[in-house]
Amino acid sequence: MMERLPGFRDFYPEPLPANEPWSCDLRQHIFRCWRETARRYGFREYDGPPLEPLELYTNKSGAEIVAQLFNFTDKGERAVSLRPEMTPTVARMVATAERAYKKPIKWFSLPQLFRYEKQQKGRLREHFQLNCDLFGEADVSADAEIVALLIDVLRSLGLTREDFVIRLSSRQAWQRFFAARGGDAAKAYEFYQVVDKLEREKPEVSAEKFAALGVKLEEVTQFIAASVPEPELQAVLDNLAARGLSDFVKVDYGVIRGLAYYTGIVFEAFDRKGEFRAIAGGGRYDQLVKQVSEGKVDLPALGFGMGDVVLAELLKVRKLVPSFASTVDVVVLIEDETLRADSLKVVQQLREAGKAVDYSLTPAKGDKQFKRALELGATHTIRLERGTDGVVVAKVKNLKTREERTMAAGEVANAPQSS
Ligand code: HAM
Repeated sequence: MMERLPGFRDFYPEPLPANEPWSCDLRQHIFRCWRETARRYGFREYDGPPLEPLELYTNKSGAEIVAQLFNFTDKGERAVSLRPEMTPTVARMVATAERAYKKPIKWFSLPQLFRYEKQQKGRLREHFQLNCDLFGEADVSADAEIVALLIDVLRSLGLTREDFVIRLSSRQAWQRFFAARGGDAAKAYEFYQVVDKLEREKPEVSAEKFAALGVKLEEVTQFIAASVPEPELQAVLDNLAARGLSDFVKVDYGVIRGLAYYTGIVFEAFDRKGEFRAIAGGGRYDQLVKQVSEGKVDLPALGFGMGDVVLAELLKVRKLVPSFASTVDVVVLIEDETLRADSLKVVQQLREAGKAVDYSLTPAKGDKQFKRALELGATHTIRLERGTDGVVVAKVKNLKTREERTMAAGEVANAPQSS
């Protein structure tokens, strides 16, 4: 049997086969909540190519993502890569077409992304990611708006302040920290990466790397432990407090983000118990549009990405995955094959009226058809019957109350709603 590649998923419909954790139903549920919340914040949906020129990532995203690229040379000798993230693509799209749009530009997308990572809990080689980004506003009110959106996306899935927290930080704060200790501006990203790895790295390794950059590990850990909000972060906190969303955020300089392009406030969403990897991450990247347009367009930008993998794991543990049992409204039972043509007419009428309808494609025993109706979670069955006078009538059964009503075959299209 051919097997799928490691780190890739099949999405089966529910009920799931044994040992298959990913369902297309859960994916659709997540997508619905993502889209619905983005809509409430006035964001418009966009998409871009899943395959991009390799160069789009090699100097924009930073070493970590570049090491994980799914890249190859295409038949036209172009160096290309599957997209590992959406941000360079959306920066390119905005740089190309920003004149056609009023500012601020507020866009979202649900791309499938590819990273050649070692497969582990919460990490696969493909994932879907909600991306919400805002272009053309430098004020911190935009940072607060993006963080509020992130909070509400998680709340729309049923998660509460007990389940998650947004850890807020600032690259400017870290940049000032580094500069105050004589740090070389050209090495700032190198410094950020050591801070980014701090929670996962052995202290002596981090201490050595910091020392090479002229910084003491103790100073770094003290700065994180204190996490005193600098003015730009205080403004975000005040803005969120006005919305009643204070309980969902905390300042934590332990977050700095791994990607190269961030320039301002950065943040990550985590489960409160700290059992999972980051659910989402983002921040401000005011130079990226300028970089991808080679200086032609200069627009401040910020946003976040939320993956479906960690999110789905968290929803399962918190028992927030809805039941996807019911797929069909009505099953038309064909017990008398001489009435198949009349039954098909009823099936068609019901479907045209917007009902989800199923029936047996080939002759089958009545009880088997009825059992199938129950399995499909139908609310009603309809079967046609020829009376002794030769007139065809419809028997409409409510499967919850088991009540059965008789009506003219031509009237059934509206019947299931009313009974
Ligand atoms: P990121 O932190 O690389 O940011 O990814 C965002 C989220 O995507 C992570 O918190 C995680 O939930 C999920 N994720 C990332 N890699 C994987 C993986 N291999 N398997 C499963 N889930 C994964 C970005 O990608 C930025 N471009 C986000 C952004 C948008 N910043 C501004 N705008």
